[in-house]
Parts: sequence; C-alpha cells; structure tokens
Amino acid sequence: MRNYRAAMVEPISLPSRERREAVLEEAGYNAFNVASEDVYVDLLTDSGTGTMSRDQWAALMRGDESYAGSRSFGRLEEAVADVMGFPNVVPCHQGRGAENVLYGCLVGEGDVVLNNAHFDTTRAHVANLGGDPVDCPVEGARDPNAPGDFKGNFSLDRARETVAEAGAENVPVVVLTITNNSAAGQPVSVANTREVADFARGIDATFVIDACRFAENAEFVRRREAEFTGDTVAEIAREQLSYADALVMSGKKEGLANVGGFAAVAEEPEGEAADRLFERAKQRGILYEGFPTYGGMAGRDMEAMAVGLREAVEPPYPEARLDQVAAFGDLLADAGLPVYRPVGGHAVYLDAGELFPNVAPDEFPGQTLVRELYREGGVRCVELGSFAFPGADRPELVRLALPRRTYAREHLEHVADAGAAVLDRREAVRGLEIVSEPPVPELRHFSAELRPVE
Ligand code: F0G
Repeated sequence: MRNYRAAMVEPISLPSRERREAVLEEAGYNAFNVASEDVYVDLLTDSGTGTMSRDQWAALMRGDESYAGSRSFGRLEEAVADVMGFPNVVPCHQGRGAENVLYGCLVGEGDVVLNNAHFDTTRAHVANLGGDPVDCPVEGARDPNAPGDFKGNFSLDRARETVAEAGAENVPVVVLTITNNSAAGQPVSVANTREVADFARGIDATFVIDACRFAENAEFVRRREAEFTGDTVAEIAREQLSYADALVMSGKKEGLANVGGFAAVAEEPEGEAADRLFERAKQRGILYEGFPTYGGMAGRDMEAMAVGLREAVEPPYPEARLDQVAAFGDLLADAGLPVYRPVGGHAVYLDAGELFPNVAPDEFPGQTLVRELYREGGVRCVELGSFAFPGADRPELVRLALPRRTYAREHLEHVADAGAAVLDRREAVRGLEIVSEPPVPELRHFSAELRPVE
C-alpha cells in the first residue's frame, strides 16, 4: 500500500499528435534530444527523477555549506553507517564520480575487472583506466522469458574461467551490481553475494558492491530467499552489504535524492595511509570531487540523501516500490506487449525484437519502439539493444524506468494504452537508420541522429 500522498504538483501536458511528430523529427528520433516539456510520462530513467519527501525538503534547510567539517556530511556519514554498515565515506557528486574515485585506486593498465554486469559508466571507467571489464551474468539473464528468482546473480563459473585465462594476479577487483541494471533490474541473492565474497577473497581481490538499488534488492530477497523470510529490509540490506570491502553508490537512486553519491570503505586494519583504501580514495576524491566533507555536493544535498537513505529501507516504501513496478509490468503484459519476466526492481523492460519481427536489427527495433511510444503517447523511454550496444549479442530491450514516488496508476495506464495502440498497427511500422553518430561507439545512443527507413 502507498504510504504517501502528493504535497506538491508539477504540471505536465500531452503535446498534440502533430507536435509530437515534429518533435521526433527535430530530435533526430533520439529521445535524449527531446525537451522535457514535450514529454507527458517520462520513463527515461529512475536516476535523480524521483519525488522527495516532506522530511527531505525540511532537511534541505539544515544544509551546512561549510567547506570543511560540514555538519551535513556528519549526518550523511551517520546514515551510511546506520543503514549500510560502512564507517568510511567519501562523498561524490554522483555514482560515476564514486566509480572514478574508487576504481581509480584499484584498477590499472591491463587489469581485468569482473562484474555480474557492468553498467555503462562502470564499463567506461574501467576501460578508461586501461582495464578490461568482463561481465559474468548467469545463464538466462539476457533471456526475457527464462524463469528465475535471481537472474541478476554473478556467475562463478564464468568468473573462474576468466581468472584461469587472465591469472588471479591480474584481477584486482570483483564487483557485484545490485540490482543488476544491465540485466533488466534483476535481483542478486544473499547466498550468491556470500559466494562472490569468498571467491574474491580467494584471489585476493577487493570485493565492491555497486549498491545503487540496494533496498529494492533487499525487498526481492525478503520475498524470494527462504533464509530471510521474516527479516526486515533494513536487516537484509545490512547483511548483504556486510560482505563487501567497499561500496559505490549513486544517491540519485536509493538515496531518494536528485543528485549525489559516495564511495564507502569497510573497517580496515590500522596501517600506513598509503596501504589504506579509504585514505587513498579520500585523496583521489579531493582531486576529482571536492574536499572530503562535501565531495561535489552542496550541504543540503547531503542532508536530503541522508534522510532518503533511511526512508529507502523503511516499510512500506520498498514494498510499495516493487509492487508498483510489478503492477506496471502486468498492465503492459495485459495490453499484449512482450514484457521481460520476471519484472525487475526499477523498470519494466520490453522485448522490441519480439514486438517487431519485421524490423531488422540494423533498423533498430528497440529505438523504433521508443519512437512509437513517444509518437503514440508522449512517453519517453530508453533503448538498450543494438542501438545502445553496437555489435553486442543481446536482446532488443527497451527500458521503461519508474521514477520513485512520482507517477500514479493513471499515468501507467496511459503508457499501456499507448503500447496497445502501437501493437495494433505493428505490421505497418518501419525501422530507423543512423544519419550521424559520435566518434565513441559506446556513447552513441546519447547523441546519434536517425531517420525513418524509406
Ligand atoms: N551504477 C549503476 C548500476 C547505475 O545504474 C548507474 C546509473 C551508475 C552506477 C552511475 O550513477 O548516474 O549517479 O552517475 N544509472 C542511471 C540509469 C543513469 O539510468 O540507469 P550516476
């Protein structure tokens, strides 16, 4: 059940069909080029787009904007220790800042980094440091129809194979991303987390959890992993994170804030500063993010995140969150759309390859669906198939991410109605071709321009 009501409203409107056609053309059929005022329901991302609570807004007023020794940093530190169990916090402007700070201390030229699946900024940071990012998804993770409670898990078999090839001494970091954003927001079990921790210890690697969506993951564990029936989300989250040596966190997700993030390091043995990860991360933080008591955030942002972290594990929030995403999946499936199953934590993913068998992969079925949902209903979402990942062997998925505590069921019904209208005329739908693209292929979906195939 929802435990909140709206206390502030933001006007949105559905542009006319004519306007939507014009917007698409002007935007080069790329949703990233569309102005937000031309969007009716914005499902591009769950990152920084959620609604803050009354207590978060109140906390903003307490912001201590001191450069050094800010009280607001103290409150963030306390929240991270209480909610996540990590005493050493390096504040950063957002998740990718934390990635730069932490991985920059751990990864060098020629190193291999293992991850259940690298998110795109994680992959780019590892590559930028000269490392080789290797994904270790479990069987079925990329199959929209495979059953499984924890399709986000890390495959130890795949990891062992990679270590056998690369040599354990060349694998300094093992990362577990919870939930697994690149595998349709699927959760990771605590049992798998323990195995990955043991594996990392066995090869003397640092075990990092990317905890962006740690509370959604804990709610899945509460529902699906027998050992934890009867435990609270707060207890499960602490248990799962306790196995990591370090965390990277985007506060824009389950910090329930509009901006912010941090890296965190577990208790470390006393020793030389140069040997201590926390000290090294702090120094790198100063260079790239800011002094260690603000790290690129305003004091008020740290206050909002400190409150948000606590709210993220408090019932009934995590339960209501997963229920809304699941209900959205059911609405879309009832409309006849091919939904990735089971539905993940922060988004519903649609299989555009199945929806448009008549659109060839090089005419981008996923991006075609993005175009059609906007054309039909002013709905914005993101392609994660052959347009975003050129050359990768993966399904033509489109992600409809739900901002937290933001949209009502009517909005979601509107999206399902738009989807049903697209389905009705799918035979006549043609694909897209690229007109111009940036030099870096990994970043092409952010700025490439397209046109309809003649
Ligand atoms: N790690 C994961 C798993 C993420 O999903 C993201 C961001 C980041 C790191 C980087 O965090 O955006 O604060 O710098 N994901 C967003 C998304 C952008 O839409 O999935 P950030």
